[in-house]
Amino acid sequence: MPTPTPSLYHDVAEVLISEEQIKRRVAELGARINKDFAGEQILVIAVLKGALLFLADLMRHIDLPLAVDFLAVSSYGTGTQSSGVVRILKDLDEPIEHRHVIIVEDIVDSGRTLDYLLRLFRQRHPATLHVCALLDKRDRREIDVPIDYVGFEVPDAFVVGYGLDFAEHYRQLPFIGVLKPEIYQ
Ligand code: IMP
Ligand code: MG
Repeated sequence: MPTPTPSLYHDVAEVLISEEQIKRRVAELGARINKDFAGEQILVIAVLKGALLFLADLMRHIDLPLAVDFLAVSSYGTGTQSSGVVRILKDLDEPIEHRHVIIVEDIVDSGRTLDYLLRLFRQRHPATLHVCALLDKRDRREIDVPIDYVGFEVPDAFVVGYGLDFAEHYRQLPFIGVLKPEIYQ
């Protein structure tokens, strides 16, 4: 029986990072976190919604006592350009004081979102504060932010899939890809 092709796939111009590559890299990141935080309990904070798939896969590779919390921010409208304004849509459920916190982000672009979050969280006095980002779009950085664990560097192009959206679409694609130019117009 032929595999049906979902229509979303017709919008993809290029696969930048395959499902296999993501799987391998996420397992490596998990292994590094296990090693670096051996003997500790950690609190993993995922930034919604883009980090959803990354978190789900990453945590299955973490063999440490772990708690998860979520934070929702908005820094983009429906387009591909940052508004430059970060707004908290949903704050954490739990205090982070004295805890080993790892922020899980989908992508660091200008760095504004992460810079804002790091400042906010530092005020809450965690024991340690680290950042794990699936993608790093380094060429676009406006604010220098420390990223402790990086999945992949990506070029200056708007990417979708594996949690990342364009106007809330394409998050479920199992790979990281670039859409055909006519879709972004
Ligand atoms: P920054 O504040 O400019 O670093 O942007 C961070 C947020 O913008 C990310 O968490 C994403 O939600 C979104 N973003 C930045 N670049 C992309 C992209 O190429 N595709 C999808 N979302 C992106
Ligand atoms: Mg995001």
